[in-house]
Amino acid sequence: MEKGEGFLSSMVELLLGVDVGTSGVKALLVDRGGTVVASGHAELDLHTPRPLWSEQDPEDWWQAACRSVREALDQVDGLVVGVGLTGQMHGSVFLGAGGNVIRPAILWNDQRTEAECREIEQRVPRLVEITCNPALTGFTAPKILWLRNHEPDNYRRVKTVLLPKDYIRYRLTGQYFSEVSDASGTSLLDVPARRWSEEILGQLEIPADWMPPLGEGPEPTTKVTNDDWGVPIGTPVVGGGGDQAAGAVGVGSIQEGVVSTAIGTSGVVFSALDSPSVDPQLSAHTFCHAVPGKWHVMGVMLSAAGSLRWFRDTFCPGESYDSIAQMGATVPAGAEGLFFLPYLSGERSPHKNPNARAVFFGATLAHTKAHFARAVFEGVAYGLRDSYELLKGMGIAITEARATGGGARSDFWLQVLSDVTNAPHVRVNVDEGPSYGAALLAGVGIGWWPSVEEACRACIVLGNRIEPDAGNVASYEKGYQQFQALYTDLLPQFRTDR
Ligand code: XUL
Repeated sequence: MEKGEGFLSSMVELLLGVDVGTSGVKALLVDRGGTVVASGHAELDLHTPRPLWSEQDPEDWWQAACRSVREALDQVDGLVVGVGLTGQMHGSVFLGAGGNVIRPAILWNDQRTEAECREIEQRVPRLVEITCNPALTGFTAPKILWLRNHEPDNYRRVKTVLLPKDYIRYRLTGQYFSEVSDASGTSLLDVPARRWSEEILGQLEIPADWMPPLGEGPEPTTKVTNDDWGVPIGTPVVGGGGDQAAGAVGVGSIQEGVVSTAIGTSGVVFSALDSPSVDPQLSAHTFCHAVPGKWHVMGVMLSAAGSLRWFRDTFCPGESYDSIAQMGATVPAGAEGLFFLPYLSGERSPHKNPNARAVFFGATLAHTKAHFARAVFEGVAYGLRDSYELLKGMGIAITEARATGGGARSDFWLQVLSDVTNAPHVRVNVDEGPSYGAALLAGVGIGWWPSVEEACRACIVLGNRIEPDAGNVASYEKGYQQFQALYTDLLPQFRTDR
């Protein structure tokens, strides 16, 4: 045996999960027991060159990915044997000949494409039948049409359109490739059939060869060819998943009724499905799961922990989220009549309204900063409850809610959410978000576990459980009615032409 070979074979084998998020890139190293042995994180800036626009430079993702992976690898003596990628969904990376980036990527929370959504509805009569969803401003296809309508010179140069994590895959492996969970959010996928829809691509006059080949989440379809991360050349890279599907794998939300509630920049209430059933109101999204042969439905609010971050940056700069929660906890449930409507970036579920705006309602001389803080936590919880109601309306019996994401680390916020939804919330042993699910998918791809189900069974353990407080449930029930009524009453004011 060569010296190098002996050294490598004695090193501990690890999976690498990488999440290209909106606020940063996270890298996670996981061992055979499913334990996280190291992690790295690198922050990202978000660019808003105009109101309603949201962009990032794909080169920044790559640089942040290199930094976060190297930071994780520096902490352990291990050998990466499988890579899983995940990331923010729906973003469009426009590549020209030779894979060069044509313009900044347009992200999931960008709201510029209302006119293009109408154009898609007119051009594609079977849109909902094929994609299981309406055209929504954050999705990818409207962005491609926006480029054609507004930046024709850029449009003429396009040869390939990729999603954020798949751009990282391209830099890492040299291959254009995607998988069905992330592709579900493009408005170009035949979601029941799990393949690109030639019918839609044809009706929208988008060249089919702009879209990358597709596989399933745990399939080891590509291999590392670039050593910038310090991962051996030839290491298998599995399909991975959109951040919500991978995050759900990471908390074991792979059976119908076991809901995962992610309080990240966005807020997502997610359930797996055995078949692709569609919300009759079209307010929740039905997408392919990262688990082969499964689908999922989710309600997505655009500003969940993003609302708290905005509140902190605007009104309490320098304060920790914990101290804002402590401040909120000093006032009674219901914030003595103060409400927050969390529509800082418009809304997707349940309102599908890019023009909705955030509102504080009901302020009096008696209200203090603590009331405003509490109203933010409560407003986000009411917004999440809207999505629980959507899932229940589809006949999904919610047997368990697993809370995840940065916001779910707050006991106070989870208590408010449990009270507002009248449902207990459980945390899991590893709460590392989508990067953990991506690592598990990689483990399935290289044969550590025979299936995603087995990987979850082996690695995920339920942790503490937060029960609703009966005293607060009733008052929040009344509060929820008023929260809903406020949106309805304000709807005529949410217009862009004023
Ligand atoms: C899901 C969605 C967001 C982004 C955020 O549909 O738009 O959750 O994926 O990362």
